[in-house]
Amino acid sequence: MAKFGNPLERWNSRFSQNGYLFGEEPNAYLRQHAPLLIGKGKTLCVADGEGRNSVWLARAGHTVTAFDFAPPAVAKARQLARRHQVHLDLHCCDWINFDWREQVFDNVVGVFFQFVDPQDRAILFSKMSSALKPGGVMLIQGYHTDQLEFNTGGPGVLENLYTEELMRTSFPELSVQDLRVYRQEIQEGTGHCGMSALVGYVGVKDLPAPDKP
Ligand SMILES: C[S@@+](CC[C@H](N)C(=O)[O-])C[C@H]1O[C@@H](n2cnc3c(N)ncnc32)[C@H](O)[C@@H]1O
Repeated sequence: MAKFGNPLERWNSRFSQNGYLFGEEPNAYLRQHAPLLIGKGKTLCVADGEGRNSVWLARAGHTVTAFDFAPPAVAKARQLARRHQVHLDLHCCDWINFDWREQVFDNVVGVFFQFVDPQDRAILFSKMSSALKPGGVMLIQGYHTDQLEFNTGGPGVLENLYTEELMRTSFPELSVQDLRVYRQEIQEGTGHCGMSALVGYVGVKDLPAPDKP
């Protein structure tokens, strides 16, 4: 499905190198904002790569489902989970083929999944939001459009990057808990390394309005 850059062969080749391309530690925004997630929840990790975020969440007691389309990444996620003695419900599939169901997850976590163009992003965001139970929490970390100034990670395609306005308006059924645009030096393996322009978002899915008497 990836129309712009980052096709499967490229990801397979990157993940076939020794070691963990984005490291084994969780993303810093996820680590810092995990207290906003529903604790020990049923949690979906989108395009989870080599499992650094899903394994960390599973170690914190979450029941984690994760998917990624690159077989070498999923194999490494499996190894990392085994090493930390946690279970992951792992799926090797393109996002479009994931078994999206409505209102099944307490948390949906997406860290650096900017392989989608605006049209597909709207579909993916909508599937992620629909997968949340009412009261569930969405956490997203991505690169801001200013990331094009830096050569430190990300798709390098302007329209795939985020702005504050995009994140504020993409999830009308969620209430924003945290939305920040910031610059930070990050060290996530060799894949994301150096000064970066970032966006962090946490939103809570609104509960249905009570029936009128
Ligand atoms: C920048 S990496 C981030 C991986 C992981 N979320 C992390 O933070 O370590 C982007 C991930 O998206 C995956 N990916 C790219 N296109 C995809 C697609 N069409 N469907 C599912 N996963 C995809 C890649 O295999 C890669 O693991």
